[in-house]
Amino acid sequence: MGLRNQLIPLGPKGEESVYYEQKRRSRSRGGRPEVKLLDLFCGMGGWSVGFHREGFDCTGIDVHDVGYPYRLILADLGTWDSASLQEDFDVICASPPCIEFTKTTLPKSWNKGKEVSRPDLTLAKSTLYIVNHFHPKFWVVENVRGAVPYFQDLFGELKKKVGSRYLWGHFPIFDCEATYDKWRLPPNPDRAWLRSKIPYPLSRSLALACRTALKQILEAT
Ligand SMILES: C[S@@+](CC[C@H](N)C(=O)[O-])C[C@H]1O[C@@H](n2cnc3c(N)ncnc32)[C@H](O)[C@@H]1O
Repeated sequence: MGLRNQLIPLGPKGEESVYYEQKRRSRSRGGRPEVKLLDLFCGMGGWSVGFHREGFDCTGIDVHDVGYPYRLILADLGTWDSASLQEDFDVICASPPCIEFTKTTLPKSWNKGKEVSRPDLTLAKSTLYIVNHFHPKFWVVENVRGAVPYFQDLFGELKKKVGSRYLWGHFPIFDCEATYDKWRLPPNPDRAWLRSKIPYPLSRSLALACRTALKQILEAT
């Protein structure tokens, strides 16, 4: 069994208090403590845009460069060595590819009556491995309805649904109305990328909740 398949349960991490102590000191020296987001499968950066607006320093990782607007690491997350990035992150957002999970919920007639094979969970397992490695204060994994039966064993119970976005992880309570409609996008070559992009109201609402919760943690330490 490969290292990536050895799933480590998320739990407390000793160095966490040192990390927050350093942040608290930087704040008492007059600086605004830097809060950091790692955006896995970042694509066009839908998650990062909202977090950046709330003052987060953003780093994205993706196998393609489709115009991520902040620091981009080009890498295959199925094989990426997380030890190569020696940094701490307060929040990790991850939107692994959803195509295989989408297929599981399509009507059979759309698949020419063929049985749909079990989705490959390699990238979902890599996501959990990377979250375990960085052990952020908050993390969220986003996907489609078809991922629900497969993600529970990896990421625990489904935590929230906003429109067609299903969210797992550990994050503060937040409100977000699903007022956007991705189906109305114009038919252009970027449609698939735009459709998978996390809507700004969602990323901004989560970012605000994380920033507020992180501030409270810093003030309590
Ligand atoms: C659902 S989209 C993410 C959308 C993104 N959250 C946004 O707001 O624009 C999935 C992304 O996974 C990337 N991807 C697919 N396979 C990958 C791999 N093996 N390693 C890294 N990224 C990968 C794709 O390039 C795509 O950008």
